[in-house]
Amino acid sequence: MCGIVGYVGKAMDERAEDVVMEGLARLEYRGYDSAGIALVTDGGVESEKRAGKLENLRGALEAHPLSGSRTAIGHTRWATHGGPTDGNAHPHHGGDDDKLALIHNGIIENFHSLKKELLAEGVTFRSETDTEVAAKLVGRAFDETGDITTAMQQVVNRLEGAFTLLAVHADQPGVVVGARRNSPLVVGLGEGENFLGSDVAAFIGYTRNALELGQDQIVTITPEGHEVINFDGSPAEGKAYEVTWDAAAAEKGGYPTFMEKEIFDQPHAVQDTLLGRTDETGRLVLDELRISEEQLKNVDRITVVACGTAAYAGMVAKYAIEHWTRIPVEVALAHEFRYSDPIVNERSLVVSISQSGETMDTLMAVKHARELGALTISVCNTHGSTIPRESDAVLYTHAGPEIAVASTKAFLAQITACYVLGLYLAQLRGGAYADDAQAVMKELHEVPAKIEELLGTMDRVKEIARFMADTRSVLFLGRNVGFPIAMEGALKLKELAYIHAEGFAAGELKHGPIALIDAGQPVFIVVPGPDTPHELHKKVVSNIQEIRARGARTIVIAQEGDEDVVPFADEVIRVPQTSPLLQPLLTVVPLQVFALHLSTAKGLDVDQPRNLAKSVTVE
Ligand code: F6R
Repeated sequence: MCGIVGYVGKAMDERAEDVVMEGLARLEYRGYDSAGIALVTDGGVESEKRAGKLENLRGALEAHPLSGSRTAIGHTRWATHGGPTDGNAHPHHGGDDDKLALIHNGIIENFHSLKKELLAEGVTFRSETDTEVAAKLVGRAFDETGDITTAMQQVVNRLEGAFTLLAVHADQPGVVVGARRNSPLVVGLGEGENFLGSDVAAFIGYTRNALELGQDQIVTITPEGHEVINFDGSPAEGKAYEVTWDAAAAEKGGYPTFMEKEIFDQPHAVQDTLLGRTDETGRLVLDELRISEEQLKNVDRITVVACGTAAYAGMVAKYAIEHWTRIPVEVALAHEFRYSDPIVNERSLVVSISQSGETMDTLMAVKHARELGALTISVCNTHGSTIPRESDAVLYTHAGPEIAVASTKAFLAQITACYVLGLYLAQLRGGAYADDAQAVMKELHEVPAKIEELLGTMDRVKEIARFMADTRSVLFLGRNVGFPIAMEGALKLKELAYIHAEGFAAGELKHGPIALIDAGQPVFIVVPGPDTPHELHKKVVSNIQEIRARGARTIVIAQEGDEDVVPFADEVIRVPQTSPLLQPLLTVVPLQVFALHLSTAKGLDVDQPRNLAKSVTVE
């Protein structure tokens, strides 16, 4: 989830660099591990890029000013392929004399095969990114066609995955071309100048007239106008609208808080985490792990180490990985792991899960696991952070930067990455579920659209939250993969609304917690789908009856079509159907929305709850 800006104006205005740098500052929330800019000069393209915050790029530009004044593109990066280094920062160059500069947001899924093809033709690369492959291809296509829009159109049809690409070429100095597939790009329409941005925050200081592009479209901007075509070359039109947000709202995509925006980003977080992890035949390919298949086949025990929400992702992973691989999986809170004399050795795989990659407790657990000889894999959202560096291998989640302190989209991405890892291990080791891996991946690819659909039905959840603003205690119940979701629902409520909340395994109720139930006690119940093995659905329906009989107010999260819950539910919140192990990606969403709106109803700071920090770098 990188930030992208493009600008073209009149030569005499000489403000391309300023406009793009300002746009990048407003887009820094989309990624901040490196930044770069390219300016078109007379006969050339000059670029500067730096790892780290935008400040570093600013310093480099002050030390070595670029020339070129009317056309520019700029990028703030959140690394996906290739670490956050100067070399991997965008722009990347291609074509004769490197006269083409290109920036990219997204993931080009088939970049390995395209890169192989280019390497065989003698093309040399300066980075590890998928982006440079696109730069080389568009550059070459320009050399053959002499037109940047035609070149872009030829290349996008060869790319798979999700991408927004922006390119400029020295031989067409007053033009910026952009293309989008499954990744955002908007056009800003000015007077004698035009803009491109990954969202309107990129140009909100200059114009409020915007144009939304459709899927698989290419736009060419000049100072005088713009032209839109489809990837097949046929003419198209964008949808014009007026931006009514102020600059602060624009950064949040028009949502009142980062957390709400991040909840709505979740379909993309899941989709992007799946991208690039299967080959053309649908087989899982995790070359990025750089661990030999032999080593992974040797593993006889897995321990997940993580804290808080990430540990709940680990609990979901336990159910899934054990089911698919038959390898025993234990989940340890990272801060307990090191001090519990853990049973970990050379045949153990220790999987750490961390959004920030900097949580000290998790880092220490990983170091301890390595001392004990275990193989360590980090599931992490932040390139270049410490935990991946201290691990043998890393599987990145692609949720993009998470700004709100309470984790939402990173949680869904962590669960997704763990599914991918589990299915990969199942495929590698053979066994009963190896053949199912591709079918599960196919089903996983359908989940983002289901999350999107679910997010469109949250009005009643918001009402329930507002109605419960004075509630002092809320309980959450779940079984199997619904159990960690119940605990995550409780954690979200504690940290955001400062309300006493607890998550229980529903079966545990009668062993004690049912004593908490009295008249009006609100209880959320995460109900497994009716096709969940071992009649778990029936058992949870009985649990609902038990608490309802004791006066609880039951708020039931159940699959569409599950009518068995209706007689015992004060409220039913529906989630789309999916197979039992994948349900957490859906059932947690209403709980996040509930906590968010209860916090808002209480007038609290949703993005920065009291006493909490986004990354906990002390033990
Ligand atoms: C809760 C939350 C925390 C984090 C935990 C681990 O909303 O965000 O519980 O999940 O502090 O953080 P990371 O994933 O950065 O290691």
